[in-house]
Amino acid sequence: MHAGDSGQLENFDLADPALFADDRYLDVLARLRSEDPVHFHAEADGPGFWVVTGHADVAHVYANDELFSSRLGMRLGTHPDAVKAVADSMLIVTDSPKHVRVRRLVGSAFTPPVMRTLENSVKGVVHELMNDVLDTPSCDFVSAFARPLPTHVICSFMGLPRADWDLIGQLTTDGIDSDNEEVRREANSELFLYFSEIIEERRDSPGTDLISMMIRAASDAPDADRSPFSDVDLIVNLAGILIGANETTRYAVAGGLVALAEHPQQWLKLQSEPDLVAPAVDEILRWVSPAVHAMRTVTAETTLHGRRLAPGDRVTVWTAAANRDPDVFPNPDEFNLARMPNRHMSFGYGRHVCVGARLARMEISAFLEELRTRAGSIHLAESVEWSPSNFTRGPLRVVARLRPAASPMCPLNSRQNEEGRYAHQ
Ligand code: HEM
Repeated sequence: MHAGDSGQLENFDLADPALFADDRYLDVLARLRSEDPVHFHAEADGPGFWVVTGHADVAHVYANDELFSSRLGMRLGTHPDAVKAVADSMLIVTDSPKHVRVRRLVGSAFTPPVMRTLENSVKGVVHELMNDVLDTPSCDFVSAFARPLPTHVICSFMGLPRADWDLIGQLTTDGIDSDNEEVRREANSELFLYFSEIIEERRDSPGTDLISMMIRAASDAPDADRSPFSDVDLIVNLAGILIGANETTRYAVAGGLVALAEHPQQWLKLQSEPDLVAPAVDEILRWVSPAVHAMRTVTAETTLHGRRLAPGDRVTVWTAAANRDPDVFPNPDEFNLARMPNRHMSFGYGRHVCVGARLARMEISAFLEELRTRAGSIHLAESVEWSPSNFTRGPLRVVARLRPAASPMCPLNSRQNEEGRYAHQ
């Protein structure tokens, strides 16, 4: 029996990473959603926080950004000084009205027309990475495919030299993930320096890349009473984009592969029905829910589901629970690629809804298209290792064997050369 099936709600510790190492956390969240949907969670070394698990309540918190502020931190476990250093500058920890301005700055590079220009480049990255995966008898799919995919896509969009991509990926990971504070600090200052130099270069010779677009948007005449964006604003938000894109997309893609391997009937359907790709992207996002929770701070007294919340209270919204709310999703624990409608909140909701959602969808869609046309079978060779995190959760390691399909129908007109490799024509 899973730990979530028994025990007092008060004894479950959502701040304990170990709970997220396997899928016990889903049982715990399901119990909270049905028994105490706005639950007060005590903390050994803090004032405690509210846990919101139902779809409608999670949407309510996300949507009411004046009542539920982001600028004191948007997740559990961050140091207040670290948040203070970037609050009111980094999009995700900024409240309106500043948020509207910063969102315009960052959003200028993520409009539908700009995204359309990236389609071929995303498909190219996916195709190249899949070559390596299909070339080896078995590999760790995370390090071979899911980890480099978002880094390569975003570095290419930023117009960074190919030789720097892996370094940037590593610095982004070290800057947020490392247990060692010194490593985190060094990685962040290296990223900071790197971007200050690139910004200087792009000012002298602008291009059509993300950084040039943001520099242009930053210098668009500010109103008389508003200060222009500084280089620090630009750098902090470039780092915010890297951080936002990195683990979430990696976990969605790797978690998607695991789900397909564990649901062979769904995999067979995907292979034979091209129209399933679009709904499959959303079902994978719902199923994996890579962004597990977000946090807000109450700004004025309010009630939620009959509970009284006071100014200063921290409220956590659990997307992973909302995404399996039976009031919204029939048979929520069924992985169903054809699920429609699919009102998951994996990208959040309201003003802070993920600015990179279109790009993430494009990457997952290109991955599924490439997989369904080029891979015949997916076999998990070892048990999957999951990141024990209550914030971004997904597979850390997926040792898999992907056999090439007998006759690949590659969307990029690839052909199999004499050595059995795939190359662009
Ligand atoms: C599967 C992939 C992704 C998932 C699950 C995801 C999830 C999320 C969620 C839940 C939020 C809202 C957080 C909150 O309200 O506090 C968010 C915001 C954000 N995401 Fe994503 N994200 C993904 C991919 C990306 C990509 C590819 C980028 C950029 C290239 C990106 C950049 C951002 C940024 C900058 C924000 C802040 C938006 C704001 O505060 O207005 N994300 N994301």
